[in-house]
Formats: sequence, C-alpha cells, structure tokens
Amino acid sequence: MNAILPNSPAARDIAYYVHPQTNLATFRNEGPLLVARGQGCRIVDDGGKEYIDAAAGLWCASLGFNASERLARVAYEQMKTLGYYHTFRQRALNVQIDLVEKLLSLAPVPMSKVLLQCSGSEANDTAIKLVWYYHSAIGKPEKNKIIGRKNGYHGNTVAAVSLSGKPDMHAGFNLPLPMMRHTEFPHYYRNHEDGESEEAFATRMAEALERLILAEGPQTVGAFFAEPVMGAGGAILPPAGYFAKVQAVLRKYDVLFVADEVICGFGRTGNWWGSQTYDLKPDMISCAKALSAAFQPISALLINDKIYQAMLSVGEKGAAFAHGYTHSGHPVTAAVALETLRIYEESDIVNHVRRVGAYFGGKLAKLAEHPLIGDARGVGLVHGLEMVADKKTRRPFEPMGKAGAILDRHALRHGVIVRVVGDRIAFSPPLVIDEPEIDEMLRRLRLALDDTLGDLSAKAA
Ligand SMILES: Cc1ncc(COP(=O)(O)O)c(C=O)c1O
Repeated sequence: MNAILPNSPAARDIAYYVHPQTNLATFRNEGPLLVARGQGCRIVDDGGKEYIDAAAGLWCASLGFNASERLARVAYEQMKTLGYYHTFRQRALNVQIDLVEKLLSLAPVPMSKVLLQCSGSEANDTAIKLVWYYHSAIGKPEKNKIIGRKNGYHGNTVAAVSLSGKPDMHAGFNLPLPMMRHTEFPHYYRNHEDGESEEAFATRMAEALERLILAEGPQTVGAFFAEPVMGAGGAILPPAGYFAKVQAVLRKYDVLFVADEVICGFGRTGNWWGSQTYDLKPDMISCAKALSAAFQPISALLINDKIYQAMLSVGEKGAAFAHGYTHSGHPVTAAVALETLRIYEESDIVNHVRRVGAYFGGKLAKLAEHPLIGDARGVGLVHGLEMVADKKTRRPFEPMGKAGAILDRHALRHGVIVRVVGDRIAFSPPLVIDEPEIDEMLRRLRLALDDTLGDLSAKAA
C-alpha cells in the first residue's frame, strides 16, 4: 500500500466511510484499494494498475465492469421518461410488468408471481416472511422454523444473515434469530470419510437433515433454503445425488424449498438457473446480481401458485399484503434488468458459459497439479480450488485461512482478484470472459500460487 497523503481520497475514505465486510482496524491503517474504472473483465485502480477480477466483483458483474452504450442508454431513457414511481396500492409500471412476465417465462419450474426488491438479502428476507405468511394463512403458524446450511450464505439483513450459516456474521450482532436452524455443510472433498463415495456422502447429508427435522418436530419446520452451488461458502458444488435425496426429505415432512439463485441465476452454472443444473423443484426462487448484470440494484422473488393462493386467501378476508419497499419494482432497475435479459438471450450467454466454462475447468484441472492444490471442481463459470498442506491426506493448513490470506495478497500484486474463503479460492468471472482472458487470469494466479508456496516453505524451514 502507498503512503496515505493528507486530504487524499484514501485519507478522506478513512475519515468518513465505514466499509462493509472489512476489518476496520486494518482498514484504518492500510486504507482502501481505490477502484477508478472498469474495462471488460478488468478494473483499474487510481494508480493505473489493472486487475482481472476473477470474482466478477461479488459474483455479479456478468457483463463486465463498464456498461455498453445500449444498456446505459436504456437507463438514461427510463430516467427521463419516468425516473421513479412506486408500485404500492395498485400502482403499476409498464417496464415492471414486462420484467415480471419475462422472469416467469424463464422460470425453471412453473411459477405464478414475482415480487421485486433491490438486493439478494431483501429477496431472501421476503421469502422468509412468505414462509411464515404462507403457513399462517393455511392455519399452521407453528411451522415457523427455517433450516439453512452451515456456511450457506443468504445475505446480511437480520433474517437473511440469521439463516446464513456464518457464525462470524452472527457474532456481536445478537444473532441468529431463534427460529433459524443450520444443517450440515455438504463439502464432499473436505468432509468425506476415506473411501466414502459422493452418493454415500450425499445420503449422510440428507440423513442429517432428516434427523434435524425430526429433532425439531416436523410440525414446527416450515422451510429449507439452499444455494444450488454454495458461493460464499467457497464455491462448493453439491455432491452427486445430494439434491434428489434432500428434496425427498423435504417432501416427506411437507417442508417448503426455497432455492437461493442469487449467484447461480442467469447462466452462471451453464443453464439459466442452478435449479436446472441440479434438477431442483423449489416453491420459491430468489435471484439478484446478474439479473441486471449488477448495473442496477434489483432482485426478484418468484413464488409458485401454492404460495400465491395462500396469500390471496388473506386478501379475500380483507387484509392487505402488508409488505414492500419504496423501490420495489423501481422503473430504472427494471428497465436495465429487462435489457440485460435481452442481451443474454441475443448473445446466447448460456452456451457461451458452457463453452468457456469447460475450457476454464480443463485449465484449472491442470493447475490442480500445483503442490498447494488439493482439489479443483466447478460447473459453468463457478469453480473452486482448495489449498492443502498435504495433497495425499487432504490435511488443511493450520490455522485454516493462513495460506488463503497469503495467496490473496500475492494475487492482488500479480493483478488478479479472486475470492478467498479460508484456504479455498473461488472463481466466478464475468460471464462474458473469453479464452485468452482466462489464460491470462490463470497465468497471474499461477505466479501468486508459486509465491505463496515460497512464503509457506520459507516459514516451515
Ligand atoms: C447466495 C446469495 N444469496 C444472497 C446474497 C445477498 O445478496 P445482496 O448482497 O445483494 O443482499 C448473496 C450475496 O453474495 C449470495 O451470494
């Protein structure tokens, strides 16, 4: 980090801004990485250094970091025509109608209605409220516990973070909420027993879920939330057979299933939805991020007719659906999302992801020969590498996260940004990435891995 000059943007940032998901003491000493502009899959800092962002920012910048003229114009025209109006109390906007109709036509399973919000957290918070609303409307209000997974991530609002299985995000905040439960982390590579197949491991995971439901009492368990591929948990793929077994348990105990497609939705796994990649049959689907290629803050919750009919029955008894936000269905966010979906269709983004994803996976399999890498797996354009102290025994580094922190620093120095989760390296590059950019990204990453190995070996000597 460069010296922080008085009154520089970095000094003013330290003086005035609280950065999310940041160690405030480290930040106060080191200051920010000041991002000045974006160009395709790259960002450029205020000193002119460029970085390939292998994480698409926060798994979201699907079309890269600078909007096309076409997308920018849509936002501009919408702002001039109708820059804001709300959708409370029966107000509607053409662009919001077009967007929800489009989303329903793309849904992986029959869905009935859409609710719009501004973030993945809000979409999941809305889903959590609807789990309670639904069960209350059908006369089972006691079915109010919701199960997430250890290391699952569903956002940072009070309810969504409670459902997330991230103890560091609960600590100090008096969370999680008391009705949230967390079942096992289905990380096959790290947690399988010697000789245990993926299928057998998946059975063990589904049995753990069933035991939890039985221990709580099925009459008290309302829903289960899962990401098709766990993102913030470290780009963890479901083991073979996992979702088939889990969904059988949910059906057995009449537990709603909510698929959190905030990362997986819109092509990330090589299909429009992760639900298609893993044959999920959710009652509700939350999505955000790539919905607008991250150029506008918008999220959606798709609900099936069973949920909607229960909600409608409340209206028939005379009560309003008392939920919503000032910006629900905001016209500029909706216009950009709609145009983003058109761009995906016109550019056949799903087939592009399949093609470059296969190329990327092949390159990562080669990189897994590196002495630090114990495991490489992925689907579409979401992949994870796990660094280990011993490749044969899968022995992790002690303490966990030490190698990851070193790698993170070297990667930045070599001009590649990856998402490090403990000692896992998660990749979710912009969906528009091509083969030459993948090669350059992995060339930089290999340099960072070599430097990390050098540091770790020097420390061990
Ligand atoms: C799977 C998943 N769900 C929900 C969220 C929360 O989305 P947001 O940060 O837009 O609130 C995230 C964010 O990374 C996510 O990865």
